[in-house]
Amino acid sequence: MSEDHFKKIISHAKEFGFIFPSSEIYDGLSATYDYGQNGVELKNNIKKYWWKSMVQMNKDIVGLDAAIFMHPTTWKASGHVDAFNDPLIDNKDSKKRYRADVLIEDFIAKIHEKNEKDILKAKKRFGESFNEETFTTTNPNILRRNKQIAEVNEKMTSAFNSDDLNEIYNLIIELGITCPVSGSKNWTEVRQFNLMFGTEIGSVADESSTIYLRPETAQGIFVNYLNVQKTSRKKLPFGIAQIGKAFRNEIIARQFIFRMREFEQMEMQFFIKPGTQKEWYDYWKKQRMSWHKSLGIENDKLQFHDHVKLAHYADAACDIEFKFPFGFKELEGIHSRTDFDLKQHELYSKKKQRYFDPETNESYIPYVIETSIGLDRMFLTLLSNGLKEEKLDDGSSRTLFSVAPALAPTKAAILPLVKKDGLSEIGTDLYNKLKLDFECGYDEKDSIGKRYRRQDAVGTPFCITVDHDTKIDQKVTLRERDTMIQERVSIDEVSNIVSKKVNMNSLF
Ligand code: GAP
Repeated sequence: MSEDHFKKIISHAKEFGFIFPSSEIYDGLSATYDYGQNGVELKNNIKKYWWKSMVQMNKDIVGLDAAIFMHPTTWKASGHVDAFNDPLIDNKDSKKRYRADVLIEDFIAKIHEKNEKDILKAKKRFGESFNEETFTTTNPNILRRNKQIAEVNEKMTSAFNSDDLNEIYNLIIELGITCPVSGSKNWTEVRQFNLMFGTEIGSVADESSTIYLRPETAQGIFVNYLNVQKTSRKKLPFGIAQIGKAFRNEIIARQFIFRMREFEQMEMQFFIKPGTQKEWYDYWKKQRMSWHKSLGIENDKLQFHDHVKLAHYADAACDIEFKFPFGFKELEGIHSRTDFDLKQHELYSKKKQRYFDPETNESYIPYVIETSIGLDRMFLTLLSNGLKEEKLDDGSSRTLFSVAPALAPTKAAILPLVKKDGLSEIGTDLYNKLKLDFECGYDEKDSIGKRYRRQDAVGTPFCITVDHDTKIDQKVTLRERDTMIQERVSIDEVSNIVSKKVNMNSLF
C-alpha cells in the first residue's frame, strides 16, 4: 500500500509539473531533480513561510545569503574534510554499494514492520476490546522483537561511537543481512567515504586550488556571525537564518527527492550563552514541531527521534521525523552544536570569534542551537501527506492534493464555462484583477468537470467559474477544493473571500 502510494506520488509529481528527473532527455542524472511549473511555486511558498516564521516573525533572528563556495580551510575547521564520511560496504556479487548504517537500520525497520503487522491483526481480531498498550507489553513475539531491536541498536551505537568499522562489519554478518539485489551475504569490509564534492578554482589545478561545494549552509552562518552581530547590534541570544543549496555525494541515490546530491536547506543558528543550551534546545524542538503541525500535517505522522550517534559537533541532537510512504524518516534536525564550530574557526583563522557580553563584561564563544530542515524533504512531506484518492458520492473518484491553501502553487483558478458569449473576456478581466492579490490560474479548455479535477490534483484551493448568469447578476461560482462546496458570490467580493483564506497569516 505504502509502496504504491510512493509510486503514485512520483508519477503524479511528474504528470502535473511538480518534479522532473534532471536532464531527462539524456536519461536523467541520479539523485538530481528539476522542479516544474507547479513545483517551483510550492517550493517558493514553503521557503516564504519558513522565512516569515523564522526571520520576519522573530525580532531576534536575521537572515543571510552566503556564497556556496567558501575558503577551503572552512571545511578543515568544521571537521568535514576529516569526518564527513559515510561507512560503505560493497556486495561482491551484485557489485552494489550500500551505506552500512542504512543496511542495519533497514534490518531494524523490518522488525518494526512485523510488530506493526501483528498489532493490526490483533486490532482486527479483538475489535473494540483491543488495548494496544496491554498487547505490546505482554505479547511474547512483540517483546522478543523489541528486545532484539534494543540489542541491535546498542551494538550499532557502540560500533559507530567508537568508529569501529570492523565491529560494524561483524554486526552485518552476525545479523545475516543480505544484499537486496543479489540476496547474498558476500560483503567487502566497511570503508569510510567522504561526501563532499571537490572542484578546482582558477585555471591551475593543484592541491591548493581545491575547493568544495558546501555540504551544509551552516558554515556560511558561522563564519559571518560576528559580521552580522556587529552590524545588526544584536545581543545574545540571537539567530541567523539562511536558505540555500547544499551538495553531498550521497551513495544511496534512491527514494526520489528524499536523498539528493544537490538539495536545499533552510537552516537557523541560534547563538546563546554557554550553559543555557538545554533550555534553548527544548524551546526550538517545541517551536519547530508546532511549525510542522501548523501546516496541517497529521499528528500521528510526526515524531521526535533522539540521535543514537551524535555528530562530531553536537552535545544533544534529535530529528523531527515524518512518516513517509517508506517509513518514519528524518525531515528536520535540531542540534545543540556547543561552541564547536566557532571555536574551530577561531583556531584555524586565528581571528577571535568571541562575543563581548555587555551585561557581565566578559568575552566568550557563544553556544549554538541549530534547526536544519531540507526544503526538498519538506516538499515530499507535503506531497505524501496531502495526495489522496477520494471516492465521490456519484461513484467516481478524484485525485486530490490537499495542501495548506497558503502554500498551494495556485490559489484560485478562473474558469469561464465556455469560451464564447463574452465569458472569456469576463474571465480574463477577473484574472487581471485577482493576479495582483494572489497566484491565479486560468483555464478554458475541456469540460468544467475535467478542469475541476485538474485543479484538485495540483492543490488549487479555489475555482472560480464564470457562466452565462454572471453577465446578468455579476456573480461567479466559488468552489472550495476539499469540501467541493460551491456558492454564488459577487465578483466584487471574490478577492476578499479568497485572500482571507489563502493568506499565510492564517497559519500562525
Ligand atoms: N547543518 C546540519 C546539517 O546539515 P543534516 O542532518 O546533515 O544536518 C539537515 O541535514 C537536513 O538537510 C536533514 O534533516 C534533511 O532534511 C536535509 N538533507 C540532508 N541530506 C540531504 C539529501 N542528501 N537530500 C535531501 N535533503 C537532505
